[in-house]
Amino acid sequence: MGVDIEMVQATPSERVELLGLIRSELADRGDAIMKAMGLTWDQFEELYETRGEVRTLKRMGAVVGFCWIEHRGSELHLHAIFVLPEQRGRGIGSATLRSLEAEFQDQAEVIELGVENDNAAARRLYERHGFEAAKVLPEVGFTVMRKRVAGERSGGR
Ligand SMILES: CC(C)(COP(=O)(O)OP(=O)(O)OC[C@H]1O[C@@H](n2cnc3c(N)ncnc32)[C@H](O)[C@@H]1OP(=O)(O)O)[C@@H](O)C(=O)NCCC(=O)NCCS
Repeated sequence: MGVDIEMVQATPSERVELLGLIRSELADRGDAIMKAMGLTWDQFEELYETRGEVRTLKRMGAVVGFCWIEHRGSELHLHAIFVLPEQRGRGIGSATLRSLEAEFQDQAEVIELGVENDNAAARRLYERHGFEAAKVLPEVGFTVMRKRVAGERSGGR
């Protein structure tokens, strides 16, 4: 059995914290990634403020990470999953994916995310959860991965 996590709506300061973590995780690749996506950092921030929802991941009451997700139509898009560095390797990333899948299985046909091609830890995690590479975007250094979920509307294709 995996670890138990709880997902709650992020507070304004937690939202700011996740944005900072995304920036520092992307580090010197950030500018190139933004450029390849045709976005300035300001535009990215605008997207972050206006699209989807940011949730805080908690384990035994303590903050252990964050996720930024967006449910649009038949898709759940995972913009970001971030487990705090000292909390990694304990199954929190896995528990987050399991929990999102359970929550959205009747509302979405597909869960989609983008992962940096050299982010081996994240790719392994997603592959273990049944995500498959759907599109490679070499100019951004990203792979789009998708998983079909057992939603009500997912049959027939
Ligand atoms: C990618 C990320 C979200 C994974 O989160 P995580 O909580 O470390 O993931 P898990 O613990 O579920 O799985 C990671 C590894 O720990 C192992 N693990 C799982 N449960 C474990 C447990 N209870 N105890 C010890 N190890 C465990 C898994 O087997 C896995 O091993 P692997 O490296 O062979 O795949 C995390 O590394 C992260 O936040 N990275 C920075 C941001 C990022 O890159 N996000 C993804 C962008 S697409």
